[in-house]
Amino acid sequence: MLRGHNLMYRILLLVVIAGLVQPVQAAVDGARLYTQNCAACHGAKGAGGVGVPLSLHDFLDSISDEYLRKTIRLGRPGRVMPAFRMLSDDDVNAIVQHIRSWGHKPERVHTAPVFSAQSVKGDALRGKALFAKNCASCHGANGEGGAGTGVTMSRPRNLPILAPALNNPGFLAAASDEMIKATLMKGRDNTPMASFLKQGLSEQDINDVVAYVRAYERSSGAKTAEVLTSESAVIVRESPYSVEETVANLKSTILGNNFRLIRIQPLDQGFVDKGKENKSRIMVYSCNFNFLNEALKVDPRVGLFLPCRVTVMEHKGKVLVMTVNPKRLSAIFNNSELNRLCEEMSKIYVEMLEEAVL
Ligand code: HEC
Ligand code: HEC
Repeated sequence: MLRGHNLMYRILLLVVIAGLVQPVQAAVDGARLYTQNCAACHGAKGAGGVGVPLSLHDFLDSISDEYLRKTIRLGRPGRVMPAFRMLSDDDVNAIVQHIRSWGHKPERVHTAPVFSAQSVKGDALRGKALFAKNCASCHGANGEGGAGTGVTMSRPRNLPILAPALNNPGFLAAASDEMIKATLMKGRDNTPMASFLKQGLSEQDINDVVAYVRAYERSSGAKTAEVLTSESAVIVRESPYSVEETVANLKSTILGNNFRLIRIQPLDQGFVDKGKENKSRIMVYSCNFNFLNEALKVDPRVGLFLPCRVTVMEHKGKVLVMTVNPKRLSAIFNNSELNRLCEEMSKIYVEMLEEAVL
């Protein structure tokens, strides 16, 4: 009896708690959304990684919520930072709130940048010379940003953060002149980005540099960051040969193209009992190590998609050879430096598949 009562009591308590908790659960969970969408690059607590740190006070103090919202929505085309168009406004706001919780005054309502000086008036031509002297070494001669992702296999975690692209349409649309000015005045502690007031520039010099950065909006450079367009996500060719013959052809094509053959196995190997595998669906794994090394230097995430896999399978009485179109990876990576490599790879794949079905 007592036990029964106890149980009833517990169930009741649970119901009451659930009732209390529900409205909170129903609200969008910014921490969860951040973990799902951002943490892989910006770190679980915003300390940075492939992406720049987001938890620095100097950063949080010099930007508005609008800057964060626009950056999330627009991304930085061609610069690794994706555009999150699928998130709802509530989702984006919840992520922004979560990022704000790392600031030292989470109770403050951030609607405007701290340096809300009147609109910045500067001389872009003077700014151009100052930029070449003070900024180009990190941000590139035309504000195109540092190369690579800043992360290489051997890079210790605490080494320099990659300088963002300033001529990027996503950055220019999100950043106000005041935000850029604040960044130059204050710098960002614990990053390579110094305070240029402390580096000896005057406030007028800084205004001139801001005017120069803003002028990228009118130059063509801001529009060059593009992802490759591709007709389809997969490259498919029909083979006139049997699965077995096609695999054999593919094997010699792979070796002829300076690829190393890694293994050949049924698609369902490991998923069905040994010996019961379907012999009409075969995966061929190979790798071109020169390409791999070149691509990994540009962007280590390339490793996620390698080794190269080609599938040979029978489908509705036809034998098909197919592989992921590397051009599509360009869109996933959002890294225009990879475009040349993806394009090259796509061509090699098409040639290999066509040779195998010749
Ligand atoms: C020593 C390298 C270095 C130099 C020199 C440098 N920066 Fe930076 N800059 C960085 C890095 C790294 C960051 C990213 C900091 C971070 O993690 O928040 C950055 C961030 C910025 C940002 C913020 C960009 C964004 O996406 O939030 C602006 C704007 C900027 N720099 C402008 C300039 C200008 C203009 C100059 C010259 C007056 C300059 N920087 C000089 C390395 C540098
Ligand atoms: C695939 C990696 C990646 C993912 C995922 C990613 N970012 Fe970024 N993010 C970057 C990189 C890299 C930059 C620097 C841009 C550059 O190099 O020009 C950046 C820049 C930013 C900036 C500008 C920082 C500054 O200093 O001004 C913000 C804000 C930002 N990201 C927020 C987010 C949020 C929020 C999410 C999740 C919704 C997210 N990012 C997801 C890689 C990523």
